[in-house]
Amino acid sequence: DRDPGGGPVTTAAARRSAALSSRIAGFPFPFRADTYRYSTNVEPARVPVATEAGGWGGGILDIDGEYAAELAERERILAADPTRLTVLPHMGPACWDALRTLLRELAAQHPDVMELRRDGDELVWRNELLGIEQRFRDGDDDTLPGGPLGFLGSQIQDDIVLLDQREGSLWADAGLVTFAADWSLHFDVGMRFLEVHGPVPRVHEEGVISRAERFLMRLQPGQEYRRTNWTMSVDRRLDQSTEVYPLWGRDRRLIAEAPADELAERLQLRVEVQHLIRLGASGAVLFLIRTYLLSLAELAQVPAWRTRFGRVLAELPDDMAEYKGLTRFRRAAADWLLPDSCPTPD
Ligand code: HEM
Repeated sequence: DRDPGGGPVTTAAARRSAALSSRIAGFPFPFRADTYRYSTNVEPARVPVATEAGGWGGGILDIDGEYAAELAERERILAADPTRLTVLPHMGPACWDALRTLLRELAAQHPDVMELRRDGDELVWRNELLGIEQRFRDGDDDTLPGGPLGFLGSQIQDDIVLLDQREGSLWADAGLVTFAADWSLHFDVGMRFLEVHGPVPRVHEEGVISRAERFLMRLQPGQEYRRTNWTMSVDRRLDQSTEVYPLWGRDRRLIAEAPADELAERLQLRVEVQHLIRLGASGAVLFLIRTYLLSLAELAQVPAWRTRFGRVLAELPDDMAEYKGLTRFRRAAADWLLPDSCPTPD
């Protein structure tokens, strides 16, 4: 984009298009085939994945163009509902372990703008992207706004869950989750891994969840894995927690009736990149959930993604579509994505 005099043009439209293409380029498109079923789909973290539009996955934490906006959104949600941050009393050491581990990770990834250093008996965290410098005493909750987990959630876009391992199970005993896709941290906190997954169809009979739990319980300190999960949502609304269902449930019903252009602009493929890390000092399992949204209209700019997602949606078994909340609009979405194929059957 250049003006007639040769200088760069920075119109709002040009800025929007640059932001749009970086969103597409970094999008973790999750489908490796034209059909999708649940599986214990874990793979080592930090291995870059090339996609038709660019790539993702070179690091654990991904700071992108939505950084400031998503952190502001988290702050707003937490102020309205403090239960999105819930920590059972025995999880203090795990929260501090997660904070130290991930601030170090951020500083290593962005040494030009972030730093964690020791100054006497204090730690000093500098984050120039947010324009902050924060001093705190390691392990002293009162020295950090929001405590260790609340503060960590003000520095990274990911939602955070910490699992304790005892009595042969994993327990979801702490978390900061403001961008849940149709579940509630406050409801789940204190549950076993198996109970947390209670509502998910198929996975129990197929042994997916018990295999995943055994895998996680064997993780050694410092080991890092990741997996993806996906669903769909209407508009770029990250907060789809059960608590605020009245704010987003209605749109899911209405969108199916929308004209095709509106459907494609508003319906989003919602992908979670989830990291699973055994923390060294506390022994807790750290579960990070980073949510990405891409509208069908954006997705369709990559023809291979358009076709593949259309086929996945058209073929998805009813029980999985129902659990994910797609039943009312998945046919309209598949028809928009695959305009040249026969209409999908009821
Ligand atoms: C949902 C598998 C780790 C919490 C799900 C779903 C699957 C799954 C297949 C259904 C997703 C959908 O269709 O949208 C796995 C596997 C894991 C894993 C294979 C590890 C290898 C975790 C961990 C937590 C967690 C560590 C932390 C507590 C949840 C929650 C839901 C969910 C809260 C939503 C359940 C609901 O509907 O209430 N998981 N998961 N998962 N998972 Fe996991």
